Amino acid sequence: MKESRPATGGAVPRVFVLQTPVELARAAAGRLWGIARERADTGSVHIGLSGGETPRKAYETLAEEPYRTRFPWEAVHFWQVDERFVPPGDPRSNRRMIWEALLSRVPVPPGHFHGFDTSLADPAAAAEAYEAALRSAFPDGSRKIPRLDAVVLGIGADGHTASLFPGTAALLSGKDLALATVGGDPPVPRVSMALPLLNHAGGILFLVQGSGKAKALREAVAAARDASLRSPALPAGLVAPKRGTAIFLVDPEAAGLLPLSWRAAG
Ligand code: 6PG
Repeated sequence: MKESRPATGGAVPRVFVLQTPVELARAAAGRLWGIARERADTGSVHIGLSGGETPRKAYETLAEEPYRTRFPWEAVHFWQVDERFVPPGDPRSNRRMIWEALLSRVPVPPGHFHGFDTSLADPAAAAEAYEAALRSAFPDGSRKIPRLDAVVLGIGADGHTASLFPGTAALLSGKDLALATVGGDPPVPRVSMALPLLNHAGGILFLVQGSGKAKALREAVAAARDASLRSPALPAGLVAPKRGTAIFLVDPEAAGLLPLSWRAAG
């Protein structure tokens, strides 16, 4: 069945409902492996990794067979999508989660993980340092905004994604690559990829689990399908890669409010 093209003119966002957390994690790991394997021949591959809890199992799965042996670790650069501005060892640290679930278990070459440095003076300094790392990793001056190959994102029940929270000034900051912001529950200072960088990615992979996300997911998919629905009130709905694809890997609980016609077959 040909899916109707969204009003955005971009690719139709594709929603896959996976029945268990293990299936969802395997689907995510499989897609990341597919992107990395396909792009590794072109040189470096750049993948953004979100924090929070949902992606943990996907990262752990990527660190296990069959992916551990087959993934082209030597060609891939991993970029932190966002960080709470807490010390690296802090239980709230996204970097700590990514290290525990993935980086500590696989042969990623030195210098192939690019995180936000929360030992710097403040989030603005961390955002600046991160931007410098991006610019040196993508020396091609023709690209004002680097094109990451894929970015793993989550969605909060309030519709935030990365550390872009509803109605915050960060959304209208005019920053292209990275920015300092505040958010979460309880709110903490944060650093995050900016929307233009996310929307230049070749692919966005949303991982969403739980009935608490059902409303935000429905609104995000609706906005991905129809640009007229986009609003700073729902940052996850502002993510729509211009020349890429948005894939949603969700569980049945999160998909509870999605029309059947929005779900990809198979
Ligand atoms: C963070 C994450 C954030 C996350 C959502 C969903 O720093 O909290 O980057 O954007 O993706 O809050 O979090 P869960 O996966 O824990 O539900």
